[in-house]
Amino acid sequence: MNVRNLTEANLTEAVLARTAGCKDPRTRRMIQSVIRHLHEIVRELEPTPREWLAAIQFLTDTGKMCDEKRQEFILLSDTLGISMLVDAINNRMTAGGTESSVLGPFYVDGAPVRERGTDLAAGDPGETATFRGRVLTAGGGPVASALLDVWQTSANGFYDIQDPSQPPMHLRARFQTSADGRYEFHTLKPVSYPIPTDGPVGMLLALQGRKPYRPAHTHFIVSAPGHRRLVTELFAEGDAQLDSDPVFGVKSSLVVEFKPDGKDAQGRAHFLVEYDFVLERA
Ligand code: BEZ
Ligand code: FE
Repeated sequence: MNVRNLTEANLTEAVLARTAGCKDPRTRRMIQSVIRHLHEIVRELEPTPREWLAAIQFLTDTGKMCDEKRQEFILLSDTLGISMLVDAINNRMTAGGTESSVLGPFYVDGAPVRERGTDLAAGDPGETATFRGRVLTAGGGPVASALLDVWQTSANGFYDIQDPSQPPMHLRARFQTSADGRYEFHTLKPVSYPIPTDGPVGMLLALQGRKPYRPAHTHFIVSAPGHRRLVTELFAEGDAQLDSDPVFGVKSSLVVEFKPDGKDAQGRAHFLVEYDFVLERA
């Protein structure tokens, strides 16, 4: 197709025709879909050149905010509900497995493997919690040697990678289940905290009149050979933010009771969460 003298009427088709040289059909389909939808947005909104440049500047600023500890594009995807849409499409559970949730931008690969029962918050002020339960198959059998990768913020609402006062890998660990599928660890009782608002995504939230606070939660990735990898979170029952999560990750089945359980060995108020994770077959 001729690419000269193009008009509003035939520009989209001309651009789509130029994708024909893309050899991989899936990639070609993706490029074509992005072109079609972006052209459609422009036709619908008819942005002025100034507005279009502002959009480009927003994406430029988003990229500039990213480094090895800050991922503003994940935050953008999360706050636009796209992360949870991708998650929903890829986790159409059919066999009763535990529901998935958002990974978020603060996961760090390679957390230390700890013994069952380890206190991840030894020496930290704040309320504490023990998480314990089993990893099960959908049929109810135990999954031995499953790996639980857990992470959460400190009582100040910051992850280790956001807060120089915390040692690296603080409140992060991996635990292996026992032969009967059991896991147990001691950590801080999670708190509600705001997602980062000091960048372009914070500005976008403010423009919509949206609040940045996530309900208190602890993150988990549960994996075992032959089973689907589960990325999820457990949320604290009664948290005031459960119905306004800015990243749309809350599901009722993931809301758990933190049962008051006296004081822990360091005299901190202690709570108990008992929860079984169910993995579906790969
Ligand atoms: C988090 O829970 O760590 C999180 C998830 C999505 C966006 C920002 C933070
Ligand atoms: Fe989080």
